[in-house]
Amino acid sequence: MDRAFRWAFIGTGTLAKKVAREITASERHVIATAYSRNREKLCAYCEPYNAYPAISIEDAIDRSDVDAVYINVTNESHYEVCRQALELGKHVLLEKPFTMNASDTEKLQNLAKSRGLYLAEAMWTWFADVPLQVRAFVQSGKLGRIREVYMSYCAYSIGYAPRVSDPLLGGGALLDIGIYPITYAYRLFGFPLSITCNGDIKNGIDYGEHIVLGYDGFDVKMDVSIVDTKGEAMIIEGENGFLANPGYHYGESAVAKTKSGVDIFKGQRSYLKEFDSVADEIRQGKTESSFIPPQATLDCMRILDECRRQMNLVYPFE
Ligand SMILES: NC(=O)c1ccc[n+]([C@@H]2O[C@H](COP(=O)([O-])OP(=O)(O)OC[C@H]3O[C@@H](n4cnc5c(N)ncnc54)[C@H](OP(=O)(O)O)[C@@H]3O)[C@@H](O)[C@H]2O)c1
Repeated sequence: MDRAFRWAFIGTGTLAKKVAREITASERHVIATAYSRNREKLCAYCEPYNAYPAISIEDAIDRSDVDAVYINVTNESHYEVCRQALELGKHVLLEKPFTMNASDTEKLQNLAKSRGLYLAEAMWTWFADVPLQVRAFVQSGKLGRIREVYMSYCAYSIGYAPRVSDPLLGGGALLDIGIYPITYAYRLFGFPLSITCNGDIKNGIDYGEHIVLGYDGFDVKMDVSIVDTKGEAMIIEGENGFLANPGYHYGESAVAKTKSGVDIFKGQRSYLKEFDSVADEIRQGKTESSFIPPQATLDCMRILDECRRQMNLVYPFE
């Protein structure tokens, strides 16, 4: 067995706590170092994992015993922290939304390429089993010609954390959760022929939006909201039947009913699979992820940019 993969965590907030518990329990991953700005919180985070509480981003990353960096800071800081990690010569797994816009994504991808470094978006859905099975099923043509797709991700999460509602932290529905149905649609059907987005902008962020991605012969309609409790659902209707997946962004089980019978898709919902896959890809010397290829990240950022343009959603630091 390979030795445990050694991570530098930049950001030690809500997500970093969940991820750390899950991946260290496997003993295949070690949090070697971590950094966030509040020293007291950082030290409390590091203590159970015996991780080194670094005094700066550079101090956390620029160490010979760090195999890769996991960046989970708030959205507005993704670009700058990732740029620093790549400049320091480390492989990176960067949380979604990759950056605030496609242009910054392209800059980071070019930097990683020029340095021969691995860089992937931590779009955990696409490391899970069920979405990959759903994708293979849809692309097999068993549903027949696609007629319509509906996806919702509506959850009252505006008060969940300051990062969801604060424009200075790159908050809002589209970048926080709209990215999931958009990436899902892209992974199933590719770049859309048309994009329309009507949003509800308040207090400098989008509370929600209705998005229509147009494809050849069908539309993918999406409702996204951080103030509505409609929930999460995906229905793909084809001429031979349908596929339903309530918790699609978690990679939870899906069912398809077609003329040829019932297919059930099951798998595990976990961050561990994502971290195991990334560690494997880095060990194999890859610089791109086959689970979420750089082109997918960049194209989805372009879709987000277009939605923002149509909603006139501009952040104060832009
Ligand atoms: N993949 C998923 O399932 C998933 C789920 C939730 C969130 N996310 C993404 O993960 C990111 C974090 O979400 P969260 O809920 O964990 O947020 P959070 O609880 O606010 O945590 C953010 C962390 O980043 C640190 N931080 C912020 N800016 C920093 C900077 N410039 N330098 C160093 N540390 C910095 C914060 O600590 P200090 O303020 O003390 O520095 C804090 O530890 C977001 O981008 C979000 O979109 C992904």
